[in-house]
Amino acid sequence: MTDNYLTLVNSGPAGTLAKKLGLPRPAVLRRHKQGAPLVPGPLLVLGTGAGADTLATRLLDWNQDVRRHARPGEKLGAIVVVLDAVADPSDLAAPVLELGQALRQLARGGRIVTVSRPALESTDPAEAAARQGIDGMVRSIGRELRAGATANGILLRGEAPVESASGALRFLLSGKSAFVNGQFITAGESPQSGPQDEERPLAGQTAVVTGAARGIGAEIAAVLSRDGAHVVVVDVPAAGEQLAAVANRVGGTALQLDITAEDAASRILEHVQHRYGSLDLLVHNAGITRDKLLANMDAARWESVMAVNLASQLRVNRSLLASDTFSASGRIVCLASTSGIAGNRGQSNYAASKAGVIGMVRSTGAALEGSGRTINAVAPGFIETEMTARMPFATREVARRFSSLQQGGQPIDVAETIAFLASPAAAGINGEVLRVCGQSLVGA
Ligand code: NAI
Repeated sequence: MTDNYLTLVNSGPAGTLAKKLGLPRPAVLRRHKQGAPLVPGPLLVLGTGAGADTLATRLLDWNQDVRRHARPGEKLGAIVVVLDAVADPSDLAAPVLELGQALRQLARGGRIVTVSRPALESTDPAEAAARQGIDGMVRSIGRELRAGATANGILLRGEAPVESASGALRFLLSGKSAFVNGQFITAGESPQSGPQDEERPLAGQTAVVTGAARGIGAEIAAVLSRDGAHVVVVDVPAAGEQLAAVANRVGGTALQLDITAEDAASRILEHVQHRYGSLDLLVHNAGITRDKLLANMDAARWESVMAVNLASQLRVNRSLLASDTFSASGRIVCLASTSGIAGNRGQSNYAASKAGVIGMVRSTGAALEGSGRTINAVAPGFIETEMTARMPFATREVARRFSSLQQGGQPIDVAETIAFLASPAAAGINGEVLRVCGQSLVGA
């Protein structure tokens, strides 16, 4: 669905009027384009420790124009603030104030990315305070930035060296993370070595996407195919025609299947084994809403939502993880929702199912730790699809504007995030829930 207001305020006089009236002025976001530079200008790396030097060198390896101090008047594509060694809140002032001085030089669609360590892993209260302080700072900057710029952070888990941030850093700097704002990605030491093929990171892999006949699922299929994967698209038989069209578009195969069926996992595995040999990625995207206030909820609405959104994922994962057809470095990515984080009026069933997905991902992630396989969830906020086009006008407008980016996301934003989590660059990311919500106020 098109956001007409966004189009209007970005077309000359209406934008000036919106500014005068103090109305929201959502920017056209900087999204990934093949061949476009990673960031729209030179990169400033702040921080004094060895970690900052390491990441500055990594960025030079990526052929980026790197600065260690801002040059007056120069527009910056991104600012990376390396704070992995902070031990006390007083360590924050110098790099953070230098960041503040450089903020006005950030280009449209620019990026701020911090690299630090999780507060919960520290047993020293002062160190934990400094680390947690970064959390509040990044989320606040996300709310202050304009012109489609975003601020996010990377947390290095355990003893992970600063290089472990590379995969998430590249994603957060790029146009692929356009609708990710005010979020943190925790990255552990990655077992993967060597650079990945940035054009086709999934070359030769086989992916299954459920609920792929339309909306976000169809876009996920397209992006995975762009990145080199063979894609199997799954949807209910009633959506067979649309599903076949998607399969044709992405050069993949279609499997008509209700994922709540008892034998769903074996049918997926048989289909994949027969045509491709093994499965590298499963995206649990199929989902439904049956909204009602809990006082008016009936068993059919509750049970259907739980069956499609959660029980099917639990059942399929159990079979998948026990199967040799699922690759030793296989990935599972599940669709959760910000409703599952913050709750939503009229969605007790949907929010229970999506919160359940988050619980499942964290538990399964812990069980998979060190195995080479990973599971993660993506929690979209308001995304422009047929599902959200059915919302009442006023509710939809509020959902769009109540985020730092003042607009809804596009299916491509969710798809890019999933493709990143499926890529070799995300090998150290496991059991995580990444919001793609433009820093929505819901569950902020
Ligand atoms: P959609 O309604 O446009 O598409 C969902 C697809 O899933 C449809 O093609 C449908 O036929 C399929 N499906 C439903 N039940 C199925 C079953 N039993 N077996 C196989 N396929 C089935 O939805 P949309 O907006 O593309 O959402 C995709 C996912 O993203 C869902 O899990 C949804 O909960 C989640 N999500 C969407 C948000 C949004 O703003 N659109 C926000 C947060 C999460």
